[in-house]
Amino acid sequence: MSGELSPIDKAKFVAAKRAADYVEDGMRVGLGTGSTAAWLVRCLGEMVRDEGLRFKGVPTSTRTAELARDVGIEVISLDEARWLDLTIDGADEFDGDLNLIKGGGGALLQEKIVATASDQMVVIADIGKEVETLGAFPLPVEVIPFGWQTTQAMIEETLISMDVLGRNSTLRINGEAPFVTDEGNHILDLHLSRIGNPRQLALVLNQMPGVVENGLFIDICDTVVIGFGDGRVELRDINEGTIEQDRLDFVESDNLFNDLAE
Ligand code: 5RP
Repeated sequence: MSGELSPIDKAKFVAAKRAADYVEDGMRVGLGTGSTAAWLVRCLGEMVRDEGLRFKGVPTSTRTAELARDVGIEVISLDEARWLDLTIDGADEFDGDLNLIKGGGGALLQEKIVATASDQMVVIADIGKEVETLGAFPLPVEVIPFGWQTTQAMIEETLISMDVLGRNSTLRINGEAPFVTDEGNHILDLHLSRIGNPRQLALVLNQMPGVVENGLFIDICDTVVIGFGDGRVELRDINEGTIEQDRLDFVESDNLFNDLAE
């Protein structure tokens, strides 16, 4: 089955598979959203089923909650967990300081709350997500529906004085209608091309009325597990300053690929 995966999917899979090793019995674990996080949830489901792993998962979206339950993970809410040992999630971009852009899947609000309530955040990503400077990926900003066009105009006005290259934004659309987040809000995608000072931008955006949260994750991620299409993985820990390399075998997860085909 692995032969049917694209190199990017293989890279996402090996990152997720390696990161699943961070989960230990008894942990409370934040489960991210997106295609890479979906691999993680499937790998963890396999470990629950085949190895008797016991942990509680806190999903960051209704999509992830549904998948987690489907694969046999015990799901609890963040309020039940209160504090988490670990969150593992994907990202749209990460830089050398492990600052992130997230929210490509529209779940940035729950993702940021859950990651911030965790002792450790591990990001899983294919190597294509690494950037020198954040901003090529449009920055998602969650805004409340009331007056969203006014909020958009205020954001674009504010961007004039920020260290960014572009300042256009678009309302995210789902089919014919505006995309609606799990919290009932909309997403504005900011086309900035380059974000010179992500920390400052994150603070300024969150001070604006109508803005609920932005997709810049600053000083939240501790470790990135980077996957490559040939099965290699690289683990970078920002706190320890360590880089570890590993390689994964696709064959061992045939069951998981078979599950996907069903
Ligand atoms: C969802 C996210 C995702 O983690 C991000 O979009 C990466 O997704 P994928 O793993 O599908 O590339 O932030 O809100």
